[in-house]
Amino acid sequence: MTSKQPIGLLDSGFGGLTVASEVLRQLPQENILYVGDNLRCPYGSREPDEVKRYLFQIMDFLAEQGVKMIIIACNTATAAGLEEARTRYKIPVLGVITPGSRAAISATQSERVGVIGTDVTIQSDSYRREIHRLNPRLYVVNQSCPPFVQLVEEDRTEAPEAHPLVASYLAPLQQEGIDTLILGCTHYPLLAPLIGEVMGEGVKLISSAEETAREASTILQLKHLLNADNPAPQHRFFTTGDADYFQRVGSRWLKREIDVTGIVLGP
Ligand code: SIN
Repeated sequence: MTSKQPIGLLDSGFGGLTVASEVLRQLPQENILYVGDNLRCPYGSREPDEVKRYLFQIMDFLAEQGVKMIIIACNTATAAGLEEARTRYKIPVLGVITPGSRAAISATQSERVGVIGTDVTIQSDSYRREIHRLNPRLYVVNQSCPPFVQLVEEDRTEAPEAHPLVASYLAPLQQEGIDTLILGCTHYPLLAPLIGEVMGEGVKLISSAEETAREASTILQLKHLLNADNPAPQHRFFTTGDADYFQRVGSRWLKREIDVTGIVLGP
């Protein structure tokens, strides 16, 4: 394995770009490969075994491309398959739930934390279990917000219906006295302005992107795989969906022009 090999990232669609963006910011000399499974998005209301099957198809693809690390930049796929993925692949595999939990624990003052995510993530109770593993004192309240992913995938984060929809799903959390809210789906940071408006200034929003990129950097450094001499890094993006649409929307969210290639994955 060499430092020149790319870091692989994957998501059900656009959400993982929030993590990719942090990786590009913190590790600007790394080559990256990103796969968005937009054709089969959302993952969040599927059966966990189906999500796991999709996850391993994408990870096989990334492994064939010779990545040195895989970041599962999708909470739903992390909840469904991280543990098994770590036994299947020889390279380091990172999820987003532990980094997000750590960031929330250090942010909360009141020790009352909310978690929003997809059905699979919330039903897995992965955040509560991880937070309690690290700090059993914290009160954790979960809320599933299934339609948020489609707002992002359909590029409707600024549409008139977005605010009332977001407000209606967050209403139960407003009674809970939380001071920290984990955006437990990598799509949700793209709705952060709306979520912040609804929850108010007293609630800190936690995206796992920054902490995940930091963890990737630490692991690469420990394994002597950090790419420190790469003035022209390559960033390649793949989608199972419409490559032109991904190129247009993804370039806007990443604030840089990206090249996108369409791929077909198994059934
Ligand atoms: C989804 O595909 O439903 C969302 C992905 C995520 O949980 O980050």
